[in-house]
Amino acid sequence: MPAIAIIGAQWGDEGKGKATDVLGSRVDYVVKFNGGNNAGHTVVIGAGETQQKYALHLLPSGILTPGCTPVIGNGVVVDLNVLFEEIEGLETRGVDTSLLKVSANAHVIADYNRTLDKVTERFLGSRRLGTTGRGIGPTYADKMNRVGIRIQDLFDEKILQAKVEGVLELKNQVLAKIYNRRAVTVEATLEELLSYADRLRPMVCDTGLLLNQALDRGETVLLEAGQATLLDVDHGTYPFVTSSSATAGGACTGSGIPPTRLDRVVGIVKAYTTRVGEGPFPTELHDDFGELLRKTGAEYGTTTGRPRRCGWYDAVIARYAARVNGVTDFTLTKLDVLTGLEKVPVCVAYDVDGVRHDEMPVNQSDFHHAVPIYEELPGWWEDISAARTLDDLPPNARAYVTAVEEMSGARISAIGVGPARDQTVVVHDLL
Ligand code: GDP
Ligand code: IMO
Ligand code: MG
Repeated sequence: MPAIAIIGAQWGDEGKGKATDVLGSRVDYVVKFNGGNNAGHTVVIGAGETQQKYALHLLPSGILTPGCTPVIGNGVVVDLNVLFEEIEGLETRGVDTSLLKVSANAHVIADYNRTLDKVTERFLGSRRLGTTGRGIGPTYADKMNRVGIRIQDLFDEKILQAKVEGVLELKNQVLAKIYNRRAVTVEATLEELLSYADRLRPMVCDTGLLLNQALDRGETVLLEAGQATLLDVDHGTYPFVTSSSATAGGACTGSGIPPTRLDRVVGIVKAYTTRVGEGPFPTELHDDFGELLRKTGAEYGTTTGRPRRCGWYDAVIARYAARVNGVTDFTLTKLDVLTGLEKVPVCVAYDVDGVRHDEMPVNQSDFHHAVPIYEELPGWWEDISAARTLDDLPPNARAYVTAVEEMSGARISAIGVGPARDQTVVVHDLL
């Protein structure tokens, strides 16, 4: 089973990092294909006193698996300072990062774009998106505007200088005249970018070629999404989205692996729903149940520490994610968090101004005031964190999984019952 994509099926933080890590020891390459250090993946390895917790932002979760080659694909935007901080942090903890490869075509997040991300949000006031402030949006905008700086530009000082001069002519007008900020100098930008060139050089290659050759040899490649379907710039709740392609199509454009080589698309879906930042969220709970999910599920952002907005499972969204991505398998995560509820509501459709919608409404404004239509499933009280097979789950937890599977448009192949690597019920083997 050579190429597998792992995709977020909701608004992010579904547990993609853990899902990647669980498969890590059986794959040869793990590729990050979109986003940048706006992502935050928490991976927990080991148990008891030897338990180790890692928070990864820019590096693919496969970096934690010895022997697996981690790859930063062409679709990623790279903050070089964060890259080397993360590498050093891992090396200090004994993680070998020497296999890391970085695409020559990935774009670089320059300082002026971090500034622009933050000042734009402030400028927008109540219309802000609630971005992570990492410069993601402005860097992707530069890429589309064809004024971006790529990793390979760092190895040709003349070209880099010409590009930085060109882009700063415009950026400085915006920074100074609209946002009343100090202009950025060409020299300072060049100095910062070039300071990373020597350390970066040995990691940089044609990662598309590398990955296709690996597939030719029958090796296994795992493509790990940052963000998620409803945050995808095309398929998400625009404009309350990130600026990259987080869906299965993006796995191809962001890695150079063609769609015909993708064998499996695994949608990671939480047993309830969370969202960080602004934007519509039909099943959001503003009551004690929301607080309970946040507390029990430790729903605080890995990147910004913001409390995540919490709500019940939304099968309309899951079906949508199944369709947009061609999901072959779902991993249902954090089922353990639902333990102890009398009834577990699941959204099966929306009511929009008296009209039932079984699919995502075509107009975004309808989605903004969609009212969930719930089906209530019986809860369970038994601790499920030690379950490793379907038979270990209490009948009502199993019934919940079956009901969710029937509503969501693809089989559930794994179930998360805790944050640790081994706290997983495997229903169908993916490899
Ligand atoms: P990602 O961005 O999709 O990789 O997800 P995050 O790492 O941001 O958020 C998921 C959180 O849930 C992390 O803290 C994980 O350690 C944790 N987690 C993942 N799977 C499970 C699970 O099945 N049960 C519980 N209780 N926690 C989980
Ligand atoms: P992972 O990979 C959850 C959200 C931000 C904001 C919007 C745009 O951990 O699932 P950006 O900085 O990307 O321009 O912000 O997207 N967002 C995420 N929410 N998980 C993420 O990543 C996210 N990455 C971005 O909160 O609403
Ligand atoms: Mg996350």
